[in-house]
Amino acid sequence: MSLEEQIKQLRIEIDYHLYRYHTLDSPVISDAEYDALYRRLVELESEHPELITPDSPTQRAGAAPSDVFVKVNHPVPILSLMNAFNADDLRAWRMRIDRLLPEGTKLDYVVEPKFDGLTVVLTYRNGVFTLGATRGDGTVGEDVTPNLRTVRTLPQRIPVDPQSKIPPPDYLVVRGEAYMPLDKFEELNASRAEAGEAIYMNPRNTAAGSLRQLDPSKTAERPLRMYCYDVILADGTEIPTTQWERLAYLKSLGFPVSPDNQYCANLDEVIAAFGRWGAHRNQINYEVDGVVVKINDRELADSLGFVGKDPRGAIALKFPAQEKTTRLLDVQVNVGRTGVLAPNAILEPVEIGGVTVRNATLHNYDEIERKDIRIGDRVIVRRAGDVIPYIVGPIVDVRDGTERPIERPTRCPFCDEPVVQFPGEVAIYCENAACPEQLIRRVEYYVSRGAMDITSFGAQTAALLFQHGLIHDVADIYTLRRDDLLQLEGFKDKKVDNLLAGIEASKNQPPERLLTALGIRFVGSVVAALLIQSFGSIDALSAASVDDLQQIEGIGPQIAASVVAWFANKQNHQLIEKLRAAGLNLSTPVAVESQGARSLSGLIFVITGTLPTMSRDAATAFIEGHGGKVTGSVSKKTDYLVAGEAAGSKLVKANDLGVAVIDEAALRDMVAVG
Ligand code: IVH
Repeated sequence: MSLEEQIKQLRIEIDYHLYRYHTLDSPVISDAEYDALYRRLVELESEHPELITPDSPTQRAGAAPSDVFVKVNHPVPILSLMNAFNADDLRAWRMRIDRLLPEGTKLDYVVEPKFDGLTVVLTYRNGVFTLGATRGDGTVGEDVTPNLRTVRTLPQRIPVDPQSKIPPPDYLVVRGEAYMPLDKFEELNASRAEAGEAIYMNPRNTAAGSLRQLDPSKTAERPLRMYCYDVILADGTEIPTTQWERLAYLKSLGFPVSPDNQYCANLDEVIAAFGRWGAHRNQINYEVDGVVVKINDRELADSLGFVGKDPRGAIALKFPAQEKTTRLLDVQVNVGRTGVLAPNAILEPVEIGGVTVRNATLHNYDEIERKDIRIGDRVIVRRAGDVIPYIVGPIVDVRDGTERPIERPTRCPFCDEPVVQFPGEVAIYCENAACPEQLIRRVEYYVSRGAMDITSFGAQTAALLFQHGLIHDVADIYTLRRDDLLQLEGFKDKKVDNLLAGIEASKNQPPERLLTALGIRFVGSVVAALLIQSFGSIDALSAASVDDLQQIEGIGPQIAASVVAWFANKQNHQLIEKLRAAGLNLSTPVAVESQGARSLSGLIFVITGTLPTMSRDAATAFIEGHGGKVTGSVSKKTDYLVAGEAAGSKLVKANDLGVAVIDEAALRDMVAVG
């Protein structure tokens, strides 16, 4: 086989496994096997960069940025839909159609979720993805091909399954909807809030903004997904003539198709399905603003023509908005571990979509002022899927003059110290390192899974210990005494033993975890690992200047400034000294001492990506030779992920789980006699 052919086969194989993993959620090979394939491709491509093509799975991390989006003409107009809001509207639609059909024509239907994302138009030539565009005005869209390639479930080649016998059409244009899963949207906002960045208003706009990034690597960082639901054009193959079969056809080619689509034999079934959706919509992980009812017989549907831009053969049946009005009783300010003051609305309880809502986020004070929300206002509260309810805005017309403006806090409600706002940031901070509320939040974070991972230590314990004056900073947890703990309500022998054992065990955590646990702004587990890798120890890091830090690939001015500011603070210095005295690990490497040389016994490693000098086998032999263990997939039990060039899903997983990530040099250091 020629090298080119080899690379091609490898890409097909990798894409198939990506599909099994992301689209079907049923992988057929282990992560280790997948990684080996991916590494092999990276290896071949790095030896022969001239053979890299944009559709290579290695390019899913994002191609080079561009200056503008190129406009593209859609091959046929990308139509819109007429709206209906209830069963009566639906019956009226059916009657209007009836007049255009031979008497007594029976119709069956497909009911699909109406994905609240943004339309994408995907073109395949001879089975290869060649163009991905936004809808634009329906006639002209924007070319966002490199961005769409980063969507893991988008097929680069069809059929995705190399065993499939289905011939790809010469030319195929598919319509789908890109969206952001609700849980991912929440995660994204939570991390932005912690970093003092403006939070996103809703998943739809965030998905749209993510897809319209000029730098595709930015899109790659956003958790976009896609569902396909229509064939717009096909040449060179007969495609099914019913919508239900078309969906099956798209699925058989490897396109992501919603499992929530439903076949309905008549209009009553459609209405019943719509009713069930009312309850179902809050249980799914993407936003749906209604259902789309489509006549199953596509030839018949198409023959009905259009009204303006809306085809007669389908209709959108919208859910009632998940919005209610209620009274804003008060505003409570929460303080997070980084000191961000978060305004939280206390509402007159109101039922929205089957859930009683008592609180809603007001996001930040800029938002409050922009919307002119006042205490006592009647406000519109919106609950979108599982997203935290938020205040859309006040109903100004029903004000009676008793409403009071919401004051921007000038002092922290918990410690009464003055607050600050940084230029360019919307967040207001309490900067008092001794603020009791922040301290509780910081301890909570210090012990959390992604940081020091003291599982026996929860949020309530943190608050309780603080209230009893047993801790004043995170280092105090190492001086907790058994007798004191036994005095606390609900703390029996076993619980105290577990807690103390957990705390003791945390002393062996590697320095990158400790650095993460300190909760320095912008220093999450990935940045922490990078910093420890580069500086070797927290002490060396504490002496680094902004310039030193910025020398490191991946450390920008914001992170550098934040790190330097943190270590410049005297209280933080004292904290580090207390942690050192308690016996925590401030420098790499962390390893069990054995017979003079540092041994890796007891440590579990996973290897991913291409290491600079060692092959995977060599690295495995190296680790095992020093008493360590190598496993195929990253889990909570993994101590270290050894990551090289083009590390893939394992790196993501390691970061998610807070597993320490090291490079080959750090691995070698761990066993160096020193
Ligand atoms: S069919 C001509 N199916 O809703 C047929 N559209 O309000 C038109 N949408 O612009 C589209 N989910 O972006 C169809 N299952 C679905 C859909 C869907 C979401 C969007 C689509 C369209 C808008 C119309």
